Amino acid sequence: MAEEITAKREPRDSHTSTRFNATSVPRPIQEIQSDTGNRIQLKHQEFSRVLGGGLVPGSINLIGGDPGIGKSTLLLQIALELAEDHPVLYVSGEESERQIKMRADRLHRDTDRQTLPLPENLLLVTETNLEAILDHTDSTRPALLIVDSIQTSYLPEFESSAGSVSQVRESASRLREYAKRTGISVFLIGHVTKEGTIAGPRVLEHIVDTVLYLEGDRYQAYRLLRSVKNRFGATSEVGVFEMGERGMVEITNPSEAFLAERMVNAPGSAIAVTMEGTRPILVEIQGLTNPTTFGNPRRTPNGIEFNRLLLISAVLTRRAGIKLTDQDVFVNVVGGLKISEPAADLAVAAAIASSVKDRPVKADTILIGEIGLSGELRMASRMSDRLEEAAKLGFQSAIIPKKLRSGGSPWPTGINIIEARSLNQALKEALLHK
Ligand SMILES: Nc1ncnc2c1ncn2[C@@H]1O[C@H](COP(=O)(O)OP(=O)(O)OP(=O)(O)O)[C@@H](O)[C@H]1O
Ligand SMILES: [Mg+2]
Repeated sequence: MAEEITAKREPRDSHTSTRFNATSVPRPIQEIQSDTGNRIQLKHQEFSRVLGGGLVPGSINLIGGDPGIGKSTLLLQIALELAEDHPVLYVSGEESERQIKMRADRLHRDTDRQTLPLPENLLLVTETNLEAILDHTDSTRPALLIVDSIQTSYLPEFESSAGSVSQVRESASRLREYAKRTGISVFLIGHVTKEGTIAGPRVLEHIVDTVLYLEGDRYQAYRLLRSVKNRFGATSEVGVFEMGERGMVEITNPSEAFLAERMVNAPGSAIAVTMEGTRPILVEIQGLTNPTTFGNPRRTPNGIEFNRLLLISAVLTRRAGIKLTDQDVFVNVVGGLKISEPAADLAVAAAIASSVKDRPVKADTILIGEIGLSGELRMASRMSDRLEEAAKLGFQSAIIPKKLRSGGSPWPTGINIIEARSLNQALKEALLHK
């Protein structure tokens, strides 16, 4: 239960005869100027891409993520870059100005690790009162206002404490209204609850134009910036970064990074091609099986869903003759990536089967396909894009589901396509003979 206290509004007196005078005027659509053309270009290409090609003036954007994942770091980097040519106001309710300065000193270095002079266009202030924040924004007129975080800012006219449902909602609405009126772009940082959604009401996501999530494994350097809502561009765009001392460095070829530490010809490893937004990424999937010592056999997935692993294990046991009922099964997606699409099923199954049989999966082969309950393979979306990416990285063959529907474009050349109808058939093709 959360107490919600709202400010009292003067009730409209229905008895007074004076009519309400609207200040807004309806206008024909042709007369209204669209302003998608003048996006502010950012040097950070990956960030720009996730936003749909730059920052839209007057837009309000929300970025959420687990504690310590790098939200403040990423936005400070954007602020430092943008402040080269535009004024930027960075408001923090969580860290002191000195702390932010220290971080800026660490981030703002050239490739030889020499500190660069910090831009004078970047203004910092520690403030949580939203009235004061808007006041500062009025006097400094920045192109971008960053509020770190929306949960620490509050409106004094509401009695509830900062971070409560009504405060978060009202603060965000006030900022939106301000952004639309002045054309200043606003970036809000939002905390994430234990369940993984942005803390505060769901309406927060309706108030803003763009919702971005920064995710990644706490113990891994890779970070994914995912757009889940975008009023100015495609959603499900993903930017891939590596977190380091100089902050978030964009990775232009994620597949290469994810495959860098792979051990070729080791049993229990298979390569899947997963779509992250519109971009195919090759990842290594590892499987390990070990006889259960006591009790029920365990299923331990890391990077894929638990239920998916249960299903794949059951199909392997029943339809492919690979007995897993007395085996613990571990599956790991290398690099901390989380795969939710079923197109990676076949690679997961191959990694497990390879571990059980102690026979490596062919090193130059990738596997794509969803596994059905009868052990059949099903087609995945955007196969051509996936195959092209695999070919580009030098993979020789791809084991994919048999195309049953006619039509569609032919598979890309440059990679040998092996079509399989069933899981059994696919595993025969994938595993090396001893
Ligand atoms: N010198 C450093 N070298 C590499 N990484 C660092 C360094 N200093 C800090 N980090 C990384 O930066 C992370 C903190 O980043 P940041 O403060 O931007 O996160 P945040 O998402 O804003 O967290 P919060 O929710 O607490 O505000 C740390 O978890 C750490 O991984
Ligand atoms: Mg922070």
